[in-house]
Amino acid sequence: MTTTSTQAISEALHWRYATKRFDRTRKIPAATWACLEEALVLAPSSFGMQPWRFVVVTDPAMRERLSAAANGQTQPVECSHFVVFAARKGLDGADIERHLARIAEVRAVPAASLKGFGDVLSGFTEHARRQGTLDGWCARQAYIALGQFMAAAALLGVDACPMEGIDPAKFDEILGLPAKGYGAVCACAAGYRATDDKYAQLPKVRFRAQDVILRA
Ligand SMILES: Cc1cc2nc3c(=O)[nH]c(=O)nc-3n(C[C@H](O)[C@H](O)[C@H](O)COP(=O)(O)O)c2cc1C
Repeated sequence: MTTTSTQAISEALHWRYATKRFDRTRKIPAATWACLEEALVLAPSSFGMQPWRFVVVTDPAMRERLSAAANGQTQPVECSHFVVFAARKGLDGADIERHLARIAEVRAVPAASLKGFGDVLSGFTEHARRQGTLDGWCARQAYIALGQFMAAAALLGVDACPMEGIDPAKFDEILGLPAKGYGAVCACAAGYRATDDKYAQLPKVRFRAQDVILRA
């Protein structure tokens, strides 16, 4: 594996910021975007369940509607690529079966050898369902993908804006997500900052490392 340098990572993480205004004229090159999609696909999730869908919205009219459903924020229309992170609603046995079948296929193992794992998954998700926490658990997985996507974008010199200031119900309706069994959780605009985005110049506000990193 080729590793990157501590300096490269530090520079990218300081360089990135939640971009408010994108340069409409600049589009992410196909190879760069393919890498960012790979970052989404390769995101880790609890038990590897991947209870998500990433909707890459290209249709301009749809992007206008999503902007309106995001409190009028302009990122959905101005950015190069707009991704909606959707999480599975009401995850069930079929999701578990699909996951197990994929493991058997990719790792070339007999499905029967995965029965124990399947039982663990069924037990865990059934418990979460009874507790009313299952959909929230799926939504949290989507945020892991969001974080990985943003970090990858920064390393590639692509600007991004994570967005939770959206109306999930309206996003769901616009994208037809409920019929697919998914619900919008958050979104991310990606592209290149506009030269006049004043947020790019603001110093980053973070608590001191010693206040947030505890040592035990
Ligand atoms: C989950 C999440 C949701 C966010 N939602 C929005 C949003 O809807 N609109 C926006 O302009 N910024 C949004 N932000 C950006 C944050 O305000 C920003 O990341 C934070 O102030 C730190 O600044 P920085 O990312 O520029 O370093 C969101 C960030 C996160 C992580």
